[in-house]
Amino acid sequence: MNILILGSGGREHTFAWKIAQSPLCESLFVAPGNSGTSEIATNVNIAVTDFQSIKELVLQKSIDMVVVGPEDPLVLGIHDFFLNDDELKQVAVIGPQEKAAQLEGSKEFAKEFLFRHNIPTAAYESFTAKTVEKGYLFLETLKPPYVLKADGLAAGKGVVILNNLEEAKAELKCMLVDAKFGQASTKVVIEEFLDGIELSCFVLTDGKNYKILPTAKDYKRIGEGDTGLNTGGMGAVSPVPFATDEFLNKIEERIVKPTIEGFQKDNLPYKGFVFIGLIKVGDDPKVIEYNVRMGDPETEAVLPRLKNDFVEILQAMVDGTLDKINIEIDERAATTIMLVSGGYPEAYEKGKEITGINAIKDSIPFHAGAINKEGKVVTSGGRVMAITSYGNTYTEAIKKSYQSIEKLYFDKMYYRKDIGFDL
Ligand code: AMP
Ligand code: GLY
Repeated sequence: MNILILGSGGREHTFAWKIAQSPLCESLFVAPGNSGTSEIATNVNIAVTDFQSIKELVLQKSIDMVVVGPEDPLVLGIHDFFLNDDELKQVAVIGPQEKAAQLEGSKEFAKEFLFRHNIPTAAYESFTAKTVEKGYLFLETLKPPYVLKADGLAAGKGVVILNNLEEAKAELKCMLVDAKFGQASTKVVIEEFLDGIELSCFVLTDGKNYKILPTAKDYKRIGEGDTGLNTGGMGAVSPVPFATDEFLNKIEERIVKPTIEGFQKDNLPYKGFVFIGLIKVGDDPKVIEYNVRMGDPETEAVLPRLKNDFVEILQAMVDGTLDKINIEIDERAATTIMLVSGGYPEAYEKGKEITGINAIKDSIPFHAGAINKEGKVVTSGGRVMAITSYGNTYTEAIKKSYQSIEKLYFDKMYYRKDIGFDL
């Protein structure tokens, strides 16, 4: 089988690493890819939203399956683009169709879905510029902190949490009236604040059957002790120690099952990954958000624990035979630590040479914002590399990653030294 992965981050390097191990994979392409994927696949310099160029590549290389990494092409309808094209419709696409991708593309759509199917989540109301006065009144009925979410995709920056009522009102006006997040904030969802510890749950579905992958915990803030600005994720641990069998059972019964049944009831075509962002409130899981893709950096800790042939699983998602698959998970813990460019998530420099990668023996260095340039590996993004290790315990795995990081260097390299501190 010839396979194309869309994306260029640590998640896509991990997909490529896992897919390249499958005897079912004949040739592997990544668009646009990074320095890590270039070692195990052929990178093609095409943007993930350039559907016409993707079509040409798929036809030219006789691609059988496209695995979509990030949300943008899914929300823009890449799966439907393939189904509606006579030359492409027999090519398998891993990822939901446009209608279902709205679960990530619109916070309001996701909240309506959750309430329609009685899935536990925070209370909410949504507002537009026309109803901004009602939004102020709604905020007055809530207790702080106040959670404001731009309805559309805002590159992970669309959620603002504030402690002060006047600031919350000003932020609401800024989003709705002054279009702080452009089109993405023409609608704003205001939510009840949920207090608890977060975790990520990953589900594979063929639209009717599902399989649950190991849970992971992501560290979103840039600073130690979970302080400072939000990032795409600074590290991840799998499994999550506080996710006991009893708690996992609640997640499956109250959240995963009604979600997959909801896809069928609402006619949402879904063959792909469902990333359910959860929060443990008391002893109960509640949904914070849906993403229609795998998490990054959670993938770098979750996929290395999957023992199955990944391509066999992806094919079962396409064929609607996921019920025949028996998921096998490595008992060991896996953790990943993200190395970022100094300054990230604000302005940072690029093009710094990364040295020492080949000296790493006890961890897997997944490349993220890193590319090949003039025979060197250089930084090309904020999140540069995710260093994954196995361990009998998560603490042992974390220690190994930190030891491996000692061997690596690039100018202004930064990473959190406290991943797992709260477990
Ligand atoms: P989201 O983009 O929806 O994942 O939100 C980003 C982050 O904001 C989440 O990971 C949570 O830490 C936080 N958050 C979102 N919604 C809530 C909520 N209702 N209560 C508490 N924290 C929230
Ligand atoms: N790590 C969180 C995300 O992928 O959205």
